[in-house]
Amino acid sequence: MFTSQGPTFRELTVQALSSIEQGYDLLAPKFDHTPFRTPDRFLDAVTGALRPLGPFGTGLDVCCGTGAGVGVLRELCGERVTGVDFSAGMLAAAGEAAAGEVAAKGGPAVNWVRADVRALPFTAAFDLAVSFGAFGHFLPAERPGLFAEVHRSLRPGGVFAFPLAAPLPVRSPLYWGLWGFDAVMRVRNALWRPPFVMYYRTFPLRGVRDDLVRAGFRVELVPLEEFGRRPDGSPHCRLVVARRT
Ligand SMILES: C[S@@+](CC[C@H](N)C(=O)[O-])C[C@H]1O[C@@H](n2cnc3c(N)ncnc32)[C@H](O)[C@@H]1O
Repeated sequence: MFTSQGPTFRELTVQALSSIEQGYDLLAPKFDHTPFRTPDRFLDAVTGALRPLGPFGTGLDVCCGTGAGVGVLRELCGERVTGVDFSAGMLAAAGEAAAGEVAAKGGPAVNWVRADVRALPFTAAFDLAVSFGAFGHFLPAERPGLFAEVHRSLRPGGVFAFPLAAPLPVRSPLYWGLWGFDAVMRVRNALWRPPFVMYYRTFPLRGVRDDLVRAGFRVELVPLEEFGRRPDGSPHCRLVVARRT
């Protein structure tokens, strides 16, 4: 939820009328006070599910923002952790927060790399890559390219992991809330330049899994039991674990 320390409605509007990169540059100082920052309960659940798959040496947080996934990687990786994002503002906020963490708790150092993740500057460099809360910024047609970039950045046997929520039932008010959000963004992007790609309903499990397999990953799904089960017994939230074969 938004708090009094978060952005004002006016600030959010200006951000939403900018490019993605510039929008996040503007939002960066207040980003951790918005609901867009991945909540700790997701980060903790993912950390718990990935721990038995380790130990890992090097880790990459794809679209790191202010460093939500970097915290996960610092728990799981023994050697080096890297956050990559194209917003200089988000990286600056992330660097400030992580410096305090490293000083207080020790653990692996963190590198910050400014790059568009559709052209990652790494080859066979990481044992583990994670990503949180960013896939809505990519059109479905961009997914194969993005997954190929992460695949190349991982060492053989390396893991790319991210949480994926089950689709909402049509009778849920949130289903219609997200549908409405996507509709508004589509109108905005048809009428206004630069575009701000951010859609909630463009990352379905089946399409994502097919694109991962085509990119050269072997895919497993791990239920995140912390989030419970749906009436049909399927999990509300899964961890997608894609291993570079
Ligand atoms: C909603 S934030 C999520 C941040 C963080 N992962 C979290 O969960 O709190 C999305 C982030 O993705 C970044 N981003 C979006 N498209 C990107 C791209 N093509 N290349 C690099 N970063 C990108 C934005 O700059 C922003 O920091």
